[in-house]
This record gives sequence, structure tokens and C-alpha cells, in this order.
Amino acid sequence: MTIGIVIVAAGRGERAGSPQEGPKQYRFIGGRPVIAHTLQTFLDWHRSGPIVVVIHPDDEGLFAASTADLAKSATDIITTFGGDTRQRSVYEGLRALSDTGATHVMIHDAARPFIDLALLDRISAMLDAGHDGVLPAMPVADTLKRGGADGLVHETVSRAGLYAAQTPQSFALSEIRSAHEKAAALRRNDFTDDASIAEWAGLPVTLIEGSADNIKLTVRRDIEMADERLSRQTIRTSLPDVRTGNGYDVHQLVPGDGVTLCGVFIPHDQKLSGHSDADVALHALTDALLATCGAGDIGDHFPPSDMQWKGAASRIFLEHAAKIVRDHGGTIMNADVSLIAEAPKVGPHRESMRRNLSEFLDIDMERCSVKATTNETIGFVGRREGIAAIATATVVYQRD
Ligand code: CTP
Ligand code: MG
Repeated sequence: MTIGIVIVAAGRGERAGSPQEGPKQYRFIGGRPVIAHTLQTFLDWHRSGPIVVVIHPDDEGLFAASTADLAKSATDIITTFGGDTRQRSVYEGLRALSDTGATHVMIHDAARPFIDLALLDRISAMLDAGHDGVLPAMPVADTLKRGGADGLVHETVSRAGLYAAQTPQSFALSEIRSAHEKAAALRRNDFTDDASIAEWAGLPVTLIEGSADNIKLTVRRDIEMADERLSRQTIRTSLPDVRTGNGYDVHQLVPGDGVTLCGVFIPHDQKLSGHSDADVALHALTDALLATCGAGDIGDHFPPSDMQWKGAASRIFLEHAAKIVRDHGGTIMNADVSLIAEAPKVGPHRESMRRNLSEFLDIDMERCSVKATTNETIGFVGRREGIAAIATATVVYQRD
């Protein structure tokens, strides 16, 4: 199966406003013409066969300028001239596709620049499954009213079973071509989309769910909103992807011979109770790292109910979180831990703790910080019932 693409771009965009700004498909959104966004998606799609763009005879220069920077050479794109109606323009596009070896066709509005690869995949899967007509559409969400010339509501129309049609509407090429030929021969030129021509010609059209983003830019406000949306995206993707995560943990103190904090054993007349070695500092830091890539928390990865973590050295948890971060394309920039403990004294062990963090995370010691404070004898920490830790990690992620 070869899927040819017809992109109709010969309209004048009258509803989108002032003629001096030119047809809407050549207006800029997010720094690029609408049609460049649309075409780029089809050029990026691995299943696109020959691509025909139907343009207005007045727009040759505009089209060439708008598509000059496309990733694949614009010479792979066939252009042909459209007619006075969308129906006529599609017909011209189908004719231009005839000798290219395409067996199927996706017919798409240039004015729908937010078409995405996932929808193209869903439609082509339906063509593969033997459907000769496929229509992406969205169930109508608003309550529908029929209004009269008197400005009054005459009727509320049930929206049950009603869909708003999108493009690309996709067909077996020979079937939709004959339907268009038949319509042209009978001078039926009032169809606003291809599914309605197919329906009229008796070709079954299967509905599939479209995409909420795949709107048609019709009025000026649509174009402004599309521009705002893409510009916001561009700003976000041009900034470094710096993310910060925080983590918090508490373990109870019980009589014992010492505590492990940041992997350093400190002799003491109490110990921390917990399933693993109860290193609150490393647990808080593990959560902070996981938070930077939305990877859940320590309990998701090392459930306390799992016997294999009994008495485990918590560096295992931290090193695992660091690996998850790296697997997501992250570079750990710094790690900062605050310990809140009445006793034992952390100060004499700070440098060993920082050295441990530097080793576990494989980053310079300068990027590792350990601080400690007492709780001024108040609260559960002040009463030496437990030790708390707060941690922050900063990670810079690569963009795909
Ligand atoms: N189209 C076309 N040839 C026409 C009319 C429309 O190729 N004679 C294309 C448009 O360029 C657009 C798509 O069909 O990509 C959907 O049509 P529509 O949104 O109605 O665009 P316009 O006809 O340009 O806008 P308007 O109806 O507001 O004038
Ligand atoms: Mg129109």
C-alpha cells in the first residue's frame, strides 16, 4: 500500500480577515508559515508516499518562500493549481496523484497545522485493515441550537451521534477519484469535504477518533491562538531544561549503638529504626533525584515490604535513582542535604558525608553539600525521638 498525500492550500481564507495579510496558510505561527508546519509533519511521517500540494495560481512565490527551509527538499513535493472551491482543489490534487503509484490517499487541509504523527498512524492502520474510507472526527461537545433569522433559538438539536469532521480524510485512491469524477460530471460542486462526496457516492466511511489539537485555522483568532501556543512552546524548548527535586524523610531513634547518615556510621547511644539501614539523608536525596524526572518515590522502587532490602545499605537506592536520572538524559548538577538532628553531632563527619555523596552520585565534591541543624530541643527531633532530612537535587536534562 502506498499512501499519497494531498494537501489543499488554494483557498483565500476570507473568514480569517484582511486581504493584505494574505491567505491564512501562509501566515506565520510560532515563527513559521502555517503550511510549513503542516507539510513538515507529513515529511516526517515514515509512511508518506508522494505528496501533492494544491496551491492557488497567485501563490507560487509565497509557496516557494514558505517551504524553502523544509527538512526534505521541496522538490519531492508535487504542486498543482486548485480551483474555486475546496472540492475542485481536491479533485485537481487527486488527478496529480494519479500517475505516482499511490494506492491510497490522505486528503488534508493546509489550514490544520497541528496534525500529529499518532493520528496519521491510527488512520493508516485502518486503511491497512481494509477500510476504503476513514474519517477522523471528534464527538460534538457543545449543546447545539438551531437559531432563526429572528435571532431567537428555535430548537435544541440532540448532539447524540454527531461528530465534527477533521482531516486527513483517507480513502482508496481509485474509489475517491471516481466519486469526485462523478460529482464533477453531474455538476455537484457543493460538497465541503471528501467524506460527504464518498457518502453521496455510496462509499462507506469509517469514523475514527480525531485529535483535539487538530483544529482548522478558520478565523483570525484561531491564527493568533495558534501563534501564542507555539511561541510558548518555542520559549520552553529554547531554555535549558533545568529541573529541581526535593525529598523529605524521617526515621525514629531507638536505643542502639549508632546511626548511619549519608553512608557514614556515627557511634551513638541510639540507632535509627527502619527496614534498610535507615539512612534518612540518602532516602531524602533519592526522592529528590527521582522527582526531577517524575519517576515516583523511593517506596515505588524499593517497597519496604520486599525482604531483600532488609538492612540494605541505602547507597543502593541512591545509586539506582542516579541511574534512572541518567537514563532519562539527566546530568546531576548538585545535591544538597539538610539533617535535622539533636544528636549525634554531624559536624565532624560532614566532609566524609560529602565525599560519599560525591562517590555515590559520581559528581564533584564541590557539588555535594551536607548541612545540619538541631531542632532547638523542641518537637520530636528536639526530644531525640527521631532524625529528619530534607534534600534538594538539581538536574539538567537533554532535549530529545
Ligand atoms: N481550499 C482550497 N481551495 C479552495 C478552497 C479551500 O484548496 N478553493 C483549502 C484551503 O486552503 C484550506 C482548506 O481547503 O486549507 C479548508 O478550507 P477553508 O478552511 O474553508 O479555507 P479557505 O477557503 O481558504 O477559507 P474561507 O472559507 O474562510 O475563505
Ligand atoms: Mg473555504
